[in-house]
Amino acid sequence: MARRRRIYEGKAKVMFEGPEPGTLVQYFKDDATAFNNQKKGVINGKGVLNNRISEFIMLRLAEIGIPTHFIRALNMREQLVREVEIIPIEVVVRNVAAGSLSKRLGIAEGTALPRSIIEYYYKNDELGDPMVSEEHITAFGWATTQDLDDMVGLTVRVNDYLSGLFLGVGLKLIDFKLEFGRLFDENGDMRIVLADEISPDNCRLWDSKTGDKLDKDRFRQDLGNVREAYQEVARRLGVLPAEVESEDTEGDPKNPRVVN
Ligand SMILES: Nc1ncnc2c1ncn2[C@@H]1O[C@H](COP(=O)(O)OP(=O)(O)O)[C@@H](O)[C@H]1O
Ligand SMILES: [Mg+2]
Repeated sequence: MARRRRIYEGKAKVMFEGPEPGTLVQYFKDDATAFNNQKKGVINGKGVLNNRISEFIMLRLAEIGIPTHFIRALNMREQLVREVEIIPIEVVVRNVAAGSLSKRLGIAEGTALPRSIIEYYYKNDELGDPMVSEEHITAFGWATTQDLDDMVGLTVRVNDYLSGLFLGVGLKLIDFKLEFGRLFDENGDMRIVLADEISPDNCRLWDSKTGDKLDKDRFRQDLGNVREAYQEVARRLGVLPAEVESEDTEGDPKNPRVVN
């Protein structure tokens, strides 16, 4: 098959031109980065796991009426998505104190927050994704007040739904990051849709009984068993791919994995 045109290579994924106009192929890599790219590594099988986990979550969200960019899975590492105009704002929701919130405000990790808190970060690697306010976002035209209203409305629904979904499989959703994009229809009408991915790369998930971390903090904090943690999340959601389940990371030679 002819190699598709590479549109963008990010830290965790590669975006290729899709088969039809207005579509993209999202390829999930095993690469992991943290602390604004200062820490780099590879988590074998992460791409396969995140592809499956994100597919599962996007499908469940679509069922409750959240518009998403997801179209369908293509193979172990790739999914077809609708191309959107990404809004350069990362929307973070926090239910329990952890990470930068604990550090900046001196609130012990694991403290339940009085209510869910939404934060915005400007998506800009050179600047290290700085936190910004609604004022910055609208003043600099990154999103309109209407866009933000739509994004926050969707974010609150996603948080409510995913908190319950994860709790049902013994995981506490501590916090997570969402990205949204503008999708235009044939009449030129625009709507905001959920884009990018939802996976243990951008969610903090703690075992609800033991408090064990089952997310990228295992990589950030060198806690070990990173791949096993992602596998456990996939297993609990019922989407663990057979290939990753076995110890054989090379996969089946008759049915090779897509490699870059
Ligand atoms: N549906 C989409 N259309 C266009 N761009 C998208 C879509 N979904 C995600 N993206 C963008 O593609 C990139 C995905 O690759 P990733 O490795 O996460 O990049 P980054 O290093 O910028 O976070 C991100 O920049 C993300 O904003
Ligand atoms: Mg990203």
